[in-house]
Amino acid sequence: MAAGGGSSRALLALRVLLLCALAAAAATILVPLATSPCARSLSRSILAATGLDPYLLFCAGGDASGGAPLLSQGGGANGTGRGAARAVVTDQRCVRGKFPPDALPPLQCCPPASASEPVNFTLPDPAEPLRTRRPVHAVGAEYMAKYARAVALMKALPRSDPRSFYQQANVHCAYCTGSHRQAGRPDLGVQIHFSWLFFPFHRAYLYFFERIAAKLLGEPGFALPVWTWDVPEGMGIPEVFADEASPLYDPIREPSHAPPKVADLDYILGGGGEKNLTDEQQILHNFRVMYKQMISGATLPSLFLGQPYRAGDPEMPGAGTVEWIPHNTMHLWTGDNSRPNAENMGVYYSAGRDPIFYPHHANIDRLWESWRGIVGGRRRADFADPDWLDSSFLLYDEEARLVRITVRDVLDIGKLRYAYAGAGLPWLNARPPVTPGVNPRGGRLASVSFPVSLDAAVTAEVRRPPPGARRRRSLQEEQAREEEVLMVEGIEADAADFVRFDVYVNAREYRKVPPGGREMAGTFATLKHPGKEGTVVRTSMTVALGELLEDLGAEGDDSVTVTLVPVRGKVRIGGLKIVYMAE
Ligand code: C2O
Repeated sequence: MAAGGGSSRALLALRVLLLCALAAAAATILVPLATSPCARSLSRSILAATGLDPYLLFCAGGDASGGAPLLSQGGGANGTGRGAARAVVTDQRCVRGKFPPDALPPLQCCPPASASEPVNFTLPDPAEPLRTRRPVHAVGAEYMAKYARAVALMKALPRSDPRSFYQQANVHCAYCTGSHRQAGRPDLGVQIHFSWLFFPFHRAYLYFFERIAAKLLGEPGFALPVWTWDVPEGMGIPEVFADEASPLYDPIREPSHAPPKVADLDYILGGGGEKNLTDEQQILHNFRVMYKQMISGATLPSLFLGQPYRAGDPEMPGAGTVEWIPHNTMHLWTGDNSRPNAENMGVYYSAGRDPIFYPHHANIDRLWESWRGIVGGRRRADFADPDWLDSSFLLYDEEARLVRITVRDVLDIGKLRYAYAGAGLPWLNARPPVTPGVNPRGGRLASVSFPVSLDAAVTAEVRRPPPGARRRRSLQEEQAREEEVLMVEGIEADAADFVRFDVYVNAREYRKVPPGGREMAGTFATLKHPGKEGTVVRTSMTVALGELLEDLGAEGDDSVTVTLVPVRGKVRIGGLKIVYMAE
């Protein structure tokens, strides 16, 4: 089925388009839990997948999905002339969201109503001073006192002021509890986790938070400090946040993780979650986690940024590597583990109430910028999909004006007049070691019939795309990247628990793999999240295989042994497949 290299591009596209309809139909039959990967989870991809029948798929931003009908969108906010435009556009309408049981009040987080219509975002004056965001551990006490003062000033504003700390914390709550509605879709909320909206939403949110802080301080150049938990000097809660007299202190944090405890970027919440490593071992482990999430696992936009999420789609199609870990895990590590929902940081609705949230997310934002830089010696590109670029959020600015800001608006931090400095990427070369003697292949395995409840570890043999497909070059732009990807589809996780499972490749004796070992290919880790249906988070997970199989000496194999290991909570898996993706 692999197309020959000499055919003209147009002809190829036509052939592949024809195949797509067939393939989408096949996918629906073979993987009943997941909707067509084109419609549901993959963008602009060329896929050669194995299943009962190998098939090829070409998905151009939903245009050729052959799957779900495209929903038309009310209003003109999506650009003109593209009937199929499906950007998620935030509406001013806001309703009471979904909270987990035992949530701490307030249980309503919609912003104050705006007297006037939202204004469209405009870039700051290029003559504005550049705000340089530096690590907490490097800026010094005086600078941190400024951040503390800014938080105190925000806390002193009346709660009705959208710039108050109370309302700023609520912003995050509103965008994760389904409070904000989608324009033209009053039945659907805007969800900014577990999809390609994760990085841009949090960037826009921090942009305004920082400007509000600067305005209140009367210091136009004020920049947020960054909690650089990926470098040894920042790997723990910075002292100043643990000072009970400081406005940066939050009493609702995990007491056993107070400084000088070294953070575990891969933290497993609950009994037995502490790895009890020495500080040196923990730091090395953290470096390997960073390497996997930032480099070997993040070779394509969707693998890093998260899966496409368009207007009308089910929410939470799938997170990118860094959102699972260390983002979610550092939320859990920081929150009070003895509380039912690990407040404040360990659950979405309350995370913004802890002043450490903003420096935490500044680090996430810095990692996005690093990924786009020279990570892995190769420049990574963001999505070019108009549905991503045109997605928009409503946020109040430093003048308390309601602003509509799009993903397109936040892609160039220089134009937003800020930069990152003062922290390196010490994990750049922390390529994890292969573990000897873990029985990578062995004899035939009993077949697994999906969907399967992950009550115990499940090991399955997953066929790889045929060698012809593996060698395919991209049919799209010259700079398109390709990757062989394991897709864990149709995941149904208990929304009322912190669910975690790990994915091992070619390690039937996975228990022998030490933390950070190469065979540990990915981790699924959620915070509690009452979804639309209240009880289940439906999502997917993607794991890059290219460098991993190379390191395991398995590039020539026809199949891969995948072991899914439950760590916490109830979860069901719809299916496993390996596809070849180009974006
Ligand atoms: Cu919106 Cu760190 O979560």
